[in-house]
Amino acid sequence: MVVNKRLLIVEDDPGLQSQMRWCFSDDLDVAVASDRESALTALRRLEPEVVTLDLGLPPDPGGASEGFHLLEEILRLSPLTKVIVVTGREDKENAVRAIGMGASDFYQKPLDADILAFVVNRAFRLAELERENRDFSKHKNGTSIKGIVAASPQMMTICRTLEKIAPTDVTTLITGETGTGKELLARGLHDLSQRADKPFAAINCAAIPENLLESELFGFEKGSFTGATQSKKGKIESANGGTLFLDEIGDMPMALQAKLLRFLQERVIDRVGSVKPIPVDVRVVCATHRDVRQLIESGDFREDLYYRISEITLDVPPLRERNGDSLVIAQSLLKSLGKQMDRPNLTFTEDAVNAITAYSWPGNVREMINKVKRATIMADGKRVTVADLDLPAEQPPSDNQLNLRQVRENAERRAITQALRSCNFNMAQASRLLGITRPTLYNLTDKYRIETSEFADNA
Ligand SMILES: Nc1ncnc2c1ncn2[C@@H]1O[C@H](COP(=O)(O)OP(=O)(O)OP(=O)(O)O)[C@@H](O)[C@H]1O
Ligand SMILES: [Mg+2]
Repeated sequence: MVVNKRLLIVEDDPGLQSQMRWCFSDDLDVAVASDRESALTALRRLEPEVVTLDLGLPPDPGGASEGFHLLEEILRLSPLTKVIVVTGREDKENAVRAIGMGASDFYQKPLDADILAFVVNRAFRLAELERENRDFSKHKNGTSIKGIVAASPQMMTICRTLEKIAPTDVTTLITGETGTGKELLARGLHDLSQRADKPFAAINCAAIPENLLESELFGFEKGSFTGATQSKKGKIESANGGTLFLDEIGDMPMALQAKLLRFLQERVIDRVGSVKPIPVDVRVVCATHRDVRQLIESGDFREDLYYRISEITLDVPPLRERNGDSLVIAQSLLKSLGKQMDRPNLTFTEDAVNAITAYSWPGNVREMINKVKRATIMADGKRVTVADLDLPAEQPPSDNQLNLRQVRENAERRAITQALRSCNFNMAQASRLLGITRPTLYNLTDKYRIETSEFADNA
């Protein structure tokens, strides 16, 4: 459906009203109002992109007071609307004042159809450009995939690939470190596919004991084992028509790998205790944080199964390799968690921003969620600090450092602080981690005045 552009003409002179209507072709929706009241009603109803506003309106047709009031109200109610003020021949002063108040252009009587059309079209073009700009910046931090916040070229590429393969049925393997968003992408793949209104069934192969995993996946018939008092559909069957998500596929036991391979080849399943194969139509998406090639080498994963599940592989890079993602995700989490926890409008301090960018995020977004949640609780006032996030404060760039001794001391101080934190301030453990004796560690913590208890300030 083509939506017409919408123009509101505010003009109290009936003759001019109809002349102005004449200036505009049929592809515009035009409304006309002759006073403030009806102009505001039309503004609300039509939501015009452009308004032409005669400043001389009743009850002050000779002046401009009513026009200025209306201008102010239009811009307050609908700040994106482009207002072109229409003034008398000699009324430059009011035109300038109107522009100062936020009108986008002015037009001086008497009416010249060509010039008026030109001015109005220019305003439409401006409105259009601004809207495109807004749409663009809305998309900048986001993607068409629900829940995924990203700014990095790496994630953009992954999202584009995902959009391309979603409508197909290719079996997809998603790899990446813990917390990188593998499950989120798997759901995205389902949501963008033609199977979106059918079930998405997920099963975590690492979380279910080996002896239960088979019946969970394939279902079982009544009486097939002690306790099987009723037949039950497995995950594969319950995903019929939709998507089956096999999470942590790298942890699937060998015996089941063979059975899964048979399913992928023949697209039928046998419930445990049954000999009647059941055909199932599912799209299979798998994920793992493990290195499958290494699992194949060590004999823990079937190579033939690997080729079946990885018709397409999406390798999700860790946060520390995604330029710009950590900050946009942290901002978005601060907003959503802040809202959830009734602490809206929190912002990061500059140090916090630097620390978020510098930190390596070994637990990726999952770790970030924990840290931002913590910060949302801990923050005093509206500012979230490095300490609230429990992040190491960023070191000054090395060219600010005086000499090699200072560089070495800074590195030592940092290593000791991190070791102590990671060992919960156990001196014996920390000294082992650092490869030094306990007395040496005590000397160094003295020298650098590093706190040796948990209640230390991270400043
Ligand atoms: N790009 C992102 N933007 C916003 N939130 C994200 C993003 N990536 C992941 N998350 C969130 O981080 C959390 C972890 O994501 P997900 O469960 O998809 O990761 P995973 O790779 O499956 O991790 P694991 O290996 O630990 O299972 C989820 O709450 C998810 O919503
Ligand atoms: Mg996961």
